[in-house]
Amino acid sequence: MTDNAREILVTSALPYANGPIHIGHLVEYIQTDIWARFQRMRGHRCYYVCADDAHGTPIMLRARQEGITPEQLIEETSKSHQADFSDFAILFDNYHSTHSDENRHYAELIFERNKAAGHIHARTIVQAYDPEERMFLPDRFIKGECPKCGAAEQYGDNCEVCGATYAPTELKNAYSAVSGAKPIEKESEHLFFKLGDFEDMLKRWTHAGHLQKEVANKLDEWFEAGLQEWDISRDAPYFGFEIPGYPGKYFYVWLDAPIGYMASFRNLCDRTGMDFDAWWREDSDTELYHFIGKDIIYFHALFWPAMLSGADFRTPTAIYSHGFLTVDGQKMSKSRGTFIKARTYLDHLNPEYLRYYFAAKLGAGVDDIDLNLEDFAQRVNSDLVGKVVNIASRCAGFIRKRFDGKLADRLDDPALFQSFVDASEQIAELYEKRAFSRAVREIMALADKANQYIDDKKPWVIAKEAGREAELHAACSMGIELFRVLMIWLRPILPATAARAETFLKVPELSWADAATPLLGHEIAKFKPLMTRVEKDRIDAMIEASKEDLVSTENAAKSAPEAVDTPAAIEPIADTIAFDDFAKIDLRVARIANAEHVEDADKLLRLTLDLGGEQRNVFAGIKSAYKPEDLIGKMTVMVANLAPRKMRFGVSEGMVLAAGPGGEDLWILEPHAGARPGMRVK
Ligand code: MSP
Ligand code: ZN
Repeated sequence: MTDNAREILVTSALPYANGPIHIGHLVEYIQTDIWARFQRMRGHRCYYVCADDAHGTPIMLRARQEGITPEQLIEETSKSHQADFSDFAILFDNYHSTHSDENRHYAELIFERNKAAGHIHARTIVQAYDPEERMFLPDRFIKGECPKCGAAEQYGDNCEVCGATYAPTELKNAYSAVSGAKPIEKESEHLFFKLGDFEDMLKRWTHAGHLQKEVANKLDEWFEAGLQEWDISRDAPYFGFEIPGYPGKYFYVWLDAPIGYMASFRNLCDRTGMDFDAWWREDSDTELYHFIGKDIIYFHALFWPAMLSGADFRTPTAIYSHGFLTVDGQKMSKSRGTFIKARTYLDHLNPEYLRYYFAAKLGAGVDDIDLNLEDFAQRVNSDLVGKVVNIASRCAGFIRKRFDGKLADRLDDPALFQSFVDASEQIAELYEKRAFSRAVREIMALADKANQYIDDKKPWVIAKEAGREAELHAACSMGIELFRVLMIWLRPILPATAARAETFLKVPELSWADAATPLLGHEIAKFKPLMTRVEKDRIDAMIEASKEDLVSTENAAKSAPEAVDTPAAIEPIADTIAFDDFAKIDLRVARIANAEHVEDADKLLRLTLDLGGEQRNVFAGIKSAYKPEDLIGKMTVMVANLAPRKMRFGVSEGMVLAAGPGGEDLWILEPHAGARPGMRVK
């Protein structure tokens, strides 16, 4: 550590504990990790902490649907998140959970301090309530017909068909997505954080260099619209922390989520003996950076600094927002196979390809970034394999075979080496500013120069000519030397490849400062390929694996809906399926909440299936065997993860299982009477 080492705490947003990490998330974790690794290579004390965001209604309902406790769900999810991160070489100093003692402590403390300062008040509000489940319903859990265009099955806050936004009370024929019951309006006392108290502070703070320009400007629009007070409590049943002094009331998940940054760091301090308060007290001179996506700016740039300042804690040094990932120019999509889970990617491709590609696309702004799969393969192959790794492989063999693995004692082209050393600070500045794409461009321009040098020297030609040993030695040593500097610069992006290069070069972990010191007379190891080319068929296989499979068995096919124009529906039925394919089928107990005839369809009934946490609309070809009224209230088994299919009569969101030769002799499967909607069938 040097004397001017900075003390830096870095965070990424805390992923929700009810779903897997996907490549969209990875934009952020890779961006943050590159920056943190860069800071460490510069000799700074940089800590990178994160946690799972474990609270809230969706997590409570998801656990219930799976028949497990929320604690079990968040435990399992945390394991899988951490395995994904670790395999992508995301190096956290600590990974914690918002459902932790530390987080409860700081959530209560921040709440109490803000309350004592008069920033919290209670007020009664009216909210949608599910009388069957006896719970208040967040907007997302109310469905109904769009008040504008009449589209069915729209969520409580906006219509996916016409784009209208509205209040859930405006939905027509609203129903609870949890039980299917008609919501009633019910009063409840809620606690509010008076964001308006912080208006002056926030107006100053948001324009004091803590935010990107375009973000600060966006916030001005919100100031103009007026700062609303923020509802920070939720009624039981809720998975979260009960608010001290308010039995049956819980902190809203977004109150304790950012506090999770502190909790994770506290947990790290307790493990390592660092002084938490030195980092979080109001006058701390350490640096604190939050990397987030542009969708959660409001929470981080307004609520968070306000809450912290109301509780006498320091505010962030900066908040860095990034844009959203698209794949081949479009939103990630399950049916196109571009909703790629981290694990699916890892099953097919080297994580460092993606780290490199994202780095090559990421700038300091909030623009969306596109993963173009063709460009991805082309760039990785031509830049990393073709330019960088190639330098070492062109030179290493001669050094091993002809010079006992020893590099020359002097540099062949000191001016060229110096031009690399000179570029080093400039590249560091680009990393510091998060202008990764520009850093990558600079590095590749210098890799071109290194290749040009080797092309000019032609070691493969000199090697064949007598008396040119010294020249050969000098040229190959110079090539290895330039390769070493390139690997230093790429190390934040490609930690595993850099580690292999360190083994090859027989050097300890490379730091930024090492660039200036060439390895004269140094012995290197045998060269092993550092990275292989991206194979197109691996990408195709990954996309295939990401598509939601249409799985069909003969009997289930009997109740298959009359699908139109969906490619998935016309795939041939395979003779056998692999166990993995079987394991992908999510079979669930469902209660037939409603069944009705479909006008103009000879075979179909429209079923409303209740899965415990949500309702599905399914068209089933069982009209010849059942009267709708006989089905209502029955339990059956459905394939719950079938991709939705557009049919002539509407969208079908699953399939019920039935057996029998057909016609009147067709029976839907009925599970044991003890089954509850949403239970897994396995
Ligand atoms: N739990 C909240 C964050 C709480 S932070 C105190 C949350 N979780 S999330 O899992 O939905 O998202 C985690 C991060 O990943 C967010 O910063 C989000 O912007 C980012 N991304 C999620 N999907 C993304 C893309 N498709 N593209 C880029 N970033 C994306 O929000
Ligand atoms: Zn609409």
